[in-house]
Amino acid sequence: MDRETKVSMLSGQDMWTLPEVPEIGLPSLTMSDGPVGVRGTGWTEKSIALPSPTALAATWDLDLVRKAGLVLGLEARRKGVHVLLAPTINLHRSPRGGRHFECYSEDPLLTGLIANAFIDGVQSQGVAATAKHFVANDSETDRMTANVQVSEQALRELYLLPFEMAVQSGVWAVMAAYNMVNGKTMTEHGELLSGVLKGEWGFDGIVVSDWTAARSTEETALAGLDIVMPQLFSPWGEELAASQVPDEVIDDKVRRVIRLAERVTKPADVTEIDGRQAAREIAARSFVLASNDGVLPLQETQTVALIGVPAHELRIMGGGSAEVNPEYVTTLETALGQKAHLATDPRATLPPAAGPLWTDLTVTCFDEQRTVLLSQPLETAAIRWIGQFPVENLARVEVSGTLSDAPGTHTFSVRGLGAFKLSVDSKVLFDDTIWPDMSDPIGFLKPPEQRVAAIVQGAQQVRLSHDVMTESPFPAINFQLGHVPPQPEDLMEQAIEAAAAADVAVVVVGTTEDVESEGYDRPSLALPGRQDELVSRVIAANPRTVVIVNAGAPVLLPWADEAAAVLLAWFPGQEGGNALADVLYGRAEPGGRLPTTWPRAEQDVPVWDVETTDGLIAYQEGLFIGYKAWDAAAVEPLYPFGHGLGYTQWVYETLVATEESVSVTVRNDGTRPGREVIQIYVEPSEQMPARPKRWLAGFAIAEGESGDVVTVTIDLPKRTFQQWAEGWQTMPGEYLVHAGHSLADLRIGGVVHVT
Ligand code: BGC
Repeated sequence: MDRETKVSMLSGQDMWTLPEVPEIGLPSLTMSDGPVGVRGTGWTEKSIALPSPTALAATWDLDLVRKAGLVLGLEARRKGVHVLLAPTINLHRSPRGGRHFECYSEDPLLTGLIANAFIDGVQSQGVAATAKHFVANDSETDRMTANVQVSEQALRELYLLPFEMAVQSGVWAVMAAYNMVNGKTMTEHGELLSGVLKGEWGFDGIVVSDWTAARSTEETALAGLDIVMPQLFSPWGEELAASQVPDEVIDDKVRRVIRLAERVTKPADVTEIDGRQAAREIAARSFVLASNDGVLPLQETQTVALIGVPAHELRIMGGGSAEVNPEYVTTLETALGQKAHLATDPRATLPPAAGPLWTDLTVTCFDEQRTVLLSQPLETAAIRWIGQFPVENLARVEVSGTLSDAPGTHTFSVRGLGAFKLSVDSKVLFDDTIWPDMSDPIGFLKPPEQRVAAIVQGAQQVRLSHDVMTESPFPAINFQLGHVPPQPEDLMEQAIEAAAAADVAVVVVGTTEDVESEGYDRPSLALPGRQDELVSRVIAANPRTVVIVNAGAPVLLPWADEAAAVLLAWFPGQEGGNALADVLYGRAEPGGRLPTTWPRAEQDVPVWDVETTDGLIAYQEGLFIGYKAWDAAAVEPLYPFGHGLGYTQWVYETLVATEESVSVTVRNDGTRPGREVIQIYVEPSEQMPARPKRWLAGFAIAEGESGDVVTVTIDLPKRTFQQWAEGWQTMPGEYLVHAGHSLADLRIGGVVHVT
């Protein structure tokens, strides 16, 4: 092949695909997000939506995580996707990180083991998994440019470790992040891309840029980047062909692309798997029962007051590139067949028009001459087309629908960027352009909202039209017609009354799309709106209150000690409602354990800052993130790392430890079948200067009926007793080896001498 043809293989031809090269039989390869499903090349294609990554990690169940990967591998095959842009294996450094829900854990070993199981599942179907974002992309503030200053030791022992494990287990793709590390942009970071990843670790797959992260031609090519995505703003193509980059460097990249193509076009052993069933099973196993005074599991005969907006509209995934469109969503309302008392809406913006008050919700596309190009029904009045439009020559998009007769004051909203006109029965309520300052293009996913109130009577025809910016280089349309009907004043009071009258109150609280998303970090960990007030009032009305927390990341639960039970449900995917009902009624065991510490108060959080100063974010805490930092600060969190109750109790009977492995025998001492995540922590007998007090060394699951005795053997990775000091070095000495139910509930121990 000539240099031009070779170079053409290395950049996207559009938002998601690489060009084909027919003369060598190379097909076009398609990439797609992301960790919970496989979105496909259109923004609105349907895909399975599994629980979010924090939920997956909370299962601590590698077989189940492998199954999740398998489901997505199959989904990718079904959709013709060759490269899945997941897993996200950055760490929970600060709980404020906007993509916290999309990463696994604060612990690098747990992150790496979960990631490997996921990668194994995806790749077993002949689909490449992509370990991202390499590296130290642990928060979102100024993410395009933030310069992360981190010591070599923290980089090696924490942030690089999951990537190293992914490479060892054979991942086929790695994504280079937007940010800089120690003064170098990651797509130009020769030391880490060519030196560590490809050189030291022997990675033979492709390094793809995060979308628009490549901002130079020669530096990126020489540093070890192999593929630039997407086509838009790509500094490669003709510039790379004409550059001084030697042919051998180009050839290495071309070989990697061909190797990838070989890997992802082989027929795979097609496995049959019920994705919906898997989604339900994974969700149930991920729920962390944080406290329970015996109120759970519920009895079928008890009356239940179901309360909270997320009981009606469960938030099943976090925002940003990880979003997919499932065919359906189960909520607690649908699963229990009972209406929820909405009480108070925590959302900062109005939900898109949808539901029984609306008929004929339609999107219509027009060209410049106002000829209709496309008209199709909508389930909700929201449009999100990113990367490509459903039709060419699009000049105007209109969302319309009929609002049935509901007399009173309705609130409508326009949320989007650009020129909009909103009319209700031909009366124009809004006609203006919305255009705030935006530094990160991801701000596009969180556009501002303009509200208008209207007193209406009789059925209304509502229209929101948007004129497309034809000169914009980036094909993207994201807007919605928001609506809330007239609200009774006393929704909160009704909920409290219902709680008082029922045997049990089940309140669902959570974060909203304004809180947890790619593109921005969280300013606070508090639940939005009046949700804390709601929970406290419900508990006061009925002490038998179960609180379900629908959030992908830690939030503050100031009423936690008063609730009869607290169940942390993450973003549970499309089967979330059914899985919650399974766990509430004891048809499934709440198998989850916390992959990250939950604080009691913001001021206790050891690593809080995500902001940059003069472009810099210094990881001053070194090795001390997560529970290692909580240990060092000697502050008790609300819920410690590894915490989570089941519906039975386990007794730890024996432990046998060597440098290589630990065997633990446990007995199910309760009356029900159950599962126990046996966690192993090692602790130097004499504290080592500047090192954490103790750390996770492995885990395994025991499962059994009442009375069953189960023995598990857990291999300890060789890194357990090693540290990075200009190379991996063993730290000889005496170590306590603990096995237990969580970091704060260690049950049995032994001693090993490391030589
Ligand atoms: C995200 C990546 C994602 C890519 C493509 C970027 O903004 O950081 O995680 O894979 O977009 O959607």
